[in-house]
Amino acid sequence: MKIAIVIGTRPEIIKMAPVIDEIKKRDIEFSLIHTGQHYDHEMSQQFFQDLELPKPDHNIGVGSKSHAKMTAAVMEGLEDILKEEKPDIVMVQGDTNAVLAGALVASKMHIPVGHVEAGLRSFDKTMPEEINRIVADTCTHLYYTPTEKAALNLLFEGADPENIIITGNTIVDACLRNLEIAKRKSTIRFPSDKIITLTMHRAENVDNKSRLKSITRALLELDNFTIIFPVHPRTRKNLEKFHLYKLLAEAEHIKLVKPLGYLDFLLLLSKSYVVLTDSGGLQEEAITLNIPCLTLRYNTERPETVEVGGNILVGADRKRIVNTLRLIQENPNFRMKMINAPNPYGDGKASKRIINATVDFHNKGKLNIRP
Ligand code: UD1
Ligand code: UDP
Repeated sequence: MKIAIVIGTRPEIIKMAPVIDEIKKRDIEFSLIHTGQHYDHEMSQQFFQDLELPKPDHNIGVGSKSHAKMTAAVMEGLEDILKEEKPDIVMVQGDTNAVLAGALVASKMHIPVGHVEAGLRSFDKTMPEEINRIVADTCTHLYYTPTEKAALNLLFEGADPENIIITGNTIVDACLRNLEIAKRKSTIRFPSDKIITLTMHRAENVDNKSRLKSITRALLELDNFTIIFPVHPRTRKNLEKFHLYKLLAEAEHIKLVKPLGYLDFLLLLSKSYVVLTDSGGLQEEAITLNIPCLTLRYNTERPETVEVGGNILVGADRKRIVNTLRLIQENPNFRMKMINAPNPYGDGKASKRIINATVDFHNKGKLNIRP
């Protein structure tokens, strides 16, 4: 059996790393294809080093483009690569443009698509990621879903239940394994005060001046915390464009840093009082590491984190962000409840289940979908 893995951005590298480890352990043939959507050292190469991943066999080198141009260029590149590689299955992860392009190309070539983290829905079609999720799942043959809720979403959309496998999320595998390594290897140092780890990059927040301004005002008010903010390149550009970067840089309690490597970032997260984020992966990592999460969004495709009590949606609303933090600080019981919220994303063995199911499908001839 041969597996082709398509990755394009930081979270895909992190969440596919445990799957690649599992494939290597079993000596299964594989080909690693990077679309090149993320290309800065600290958004891509750094994670190959931290996670000891093999160099990609192919890099399409798409770079930064509009959605249509990026998707089209990746599709074109991928078609040629898949013709040459002839894999038995193409694995994609999550909801980026790499997933959209990978799922469309492979399914039209009658190569089965295995979607890691299938079935997530925010039910907000203004998000590019929601469109990617829906289209990718329409093209998917094997759905590796992180939770029962994600599996149910797929059932309601008419997916074949035989092809749905509830695996847990590979972020738990990545997080648990690498936190131990980080504790041994990372040399990062933090202040001893109450740390808020902050990340944001979601288009609906950082491309929108009034939302970015409102979040910035909240950050400036939160001066009884130390805020550590590894700035995503998209966010840096927009903070500069809207003249907000300097305001943050001049605030003593806010530390603006470059995006961190995975080991350093995990250690930072594990030492945080709360995390403030609009990231998908961070909502999952926060609950895995028992760190209260405040999500800078009005909806989430990770509702499990909210339902179990580990995540609060605060949107981009200055008052709501500041007042929620104040309430948590004044009521230690609130924070304790959030810390103790159970993890809905499994036991850290998702990648094992993903590969077990794939091998089983292959052995039973169920990966052959040619007409
Ligand atoms: C992409 C994904 C998003 C994911 C995020 C993870 C899509 C539609 N979006 O968003 O779902 O959550 O990655 O971080 O696939 N840039 C650089 N250097 C880089 C990469 C990007 O400077 O290495 C800058 C460019 O100006 C670029 C902008 O960031 O235009 C946005 O990059 P892009 O890959 O289009 O989207 P992300 O916001 O990174
Ligand atoms: N991350 C990191 N360094 C950082 C910020 C985030 O290693 O400076 C990791 C984080 O631990 C998580 C992933 O990047 O695993 C999330 O990526 P991102 O927020 O870019 O994308 P999303 O999950 O929203 O698609």
